[in-house]
Amino acid sequence: MNDKIKKRILRTLILAAIGLSIGGGVAWWQIEFQKARVIQKGSYASQSGVNVAGLDIGGPFTLTDHNGETVNQDSWPGQYKLIYFGFTYCPAICPTELQKMTRALTALGERSEKIQPLLISIDPERDTPEVLASYVDLFHPRLVGLTGTEPQINDVKRKYRIFAARVDDPDLSDYTMDHSTFTYLFNPEGDLISMYRIEDDHTFMAEDMRKKIPSVESVN
Ligand code: NI
Repeated sequence: MNDKIKKRILRTLILAAIGLSIGGGVAWWQIEFQKARVIQKGSYASQSGVNVAGLDIGGPFTLTDHNGETVNQDSWPGQYKLIYFGFTYCPAICPTELQKMTRALTALGERSEKIQPLLISIDPERDTPEVLASYVDLFHPRLVGLTGTEPQINDVKRKYRIFAARVDDPDLSDYTMDHSTFTYLFNPEGDLISMYRIEDDHTFMAEDMRKKIPSVESVN
């Protein structure tokens, strides 16, 4: 191995370690933040069995989908929404979480047709509809990518309690983003009914969604 390759490998390893520690920090921050919010609201009661009651998360939005169409929270009537906030330049966590989302939907079978998967970009500067269009295609045929103006993205981040911050690293050719990694499940009425973390695998997600979403047959 020549020195150049050694240096390159070392750099990759260092970057990976930095990435992991940032990820861990963000996860810790998210958990503490959510706990604090529940305590503030003074409510631990949960009707759904998942500790999301009392969390004031969600609400109306206006964004642009990957086909350039303006959409809002009512654009998928009657559908549950599985929402992940991320960005297409994300080197590791976003692709992993989106793959997990796809695997969970696949495991759900027919019932997944009642769910609209959404990726909302926290990096609207680079994530244009065109960029999102080619990205969402890599994960799920029905995954819709959403972007918007900076004020629109800031508004949705605030309502959905998403932490996201730009990180400028002189060792990288371009900036990256530090961000929350929750996947949210909303019912058709717009209530948050589940929140999945990095630690929750696709089997857990599918089981939880199976409990919360009535089967196609039981609706008929
Ligand atoms: Ni990411």
